[in-house]
Amino acid sequence: MSADDSRPLRLTRRQVLEGGAALAVLGYVQPGFAAEAAPAAPPVLPSDPGVSTLSVRMTINGVGRSLALDTRTTLLDTLREHLGFTGTKKGCDHGQCGACTVLVNGRRINACLTLAVLHEGDAVTTIEGLAHGDQLHPLQSAFVHHDGFQCGYCTPGQICSAVGMLGEHQAGMPSLVTEDLESRPELTDTEIRERMSGNICRCSAYPNIVAAIKDAAGEPL
Ligand code: FES
Ligand code: FES
Repeated sequence: MSADDSRPLRLTRRQVLEGGAALAVLGYVQPGFAAEAAPAAPPVLPSDPGVSTLSVRMTINGVGRSLALDTRTTLLDTLREHLGFTGTKKGCDHGQCGACTVLVNGRRINACLTLAVLHEGDAVTTIEGLAHGDQLHPLQSAFVHHDGFQCGYCTPGQICSAVGMLGEHQAGMPSLVTEDLESRPELTDTEIRERMSGNICRCSAYPNIVAAIKDAAGEPL
């Protein structure tokens, strides 16, 4: 060991925060949660006469996958437990928190509330599939720029939900607070908060999340 090797590693607070920001928007959580390796190949299920399995083919983040699954397996558990896409988080497992939000054929859904075998032929996008190589998705960049998270646990679901929400707004879909149903509503803070109300943040990073979404949507802040 050289003299240099024996010196303790010193990082500035800014370096630590920048590292954490990158992990959160890419789907990892800090602190205390290690960044995990690339998704593993799906495990082969043991043949259990009491378990009913079905084959299902899906495209996950642009890659075709073929799986034999217990018919009771949720899409969330398929992504996390069978394919290793752990950026999608399990918060409540009851459809109440939005941490598990992913995009299916471009529409946002709670992955904990749907069975994987119902998604034959579907295209699923998780937080790991939003960036193009080193190029972050505009919403990922905006979340970093506006500090749209603290612990980062809800962040993958918030970002996937925001992608779906902006698509719905672009398509002219109204929300519960839209007054004029004839034209596309302005993306006010109230509109964004209503449209994102299915995504809970236990750290209450809401003001910065709203700012990040407005920024990515090109709305005045
Ligand atoms: S884990 Fe799916 S909504 Fe909470
Ligand atoms: S940033 Fe911690 S739960 Fe949202």
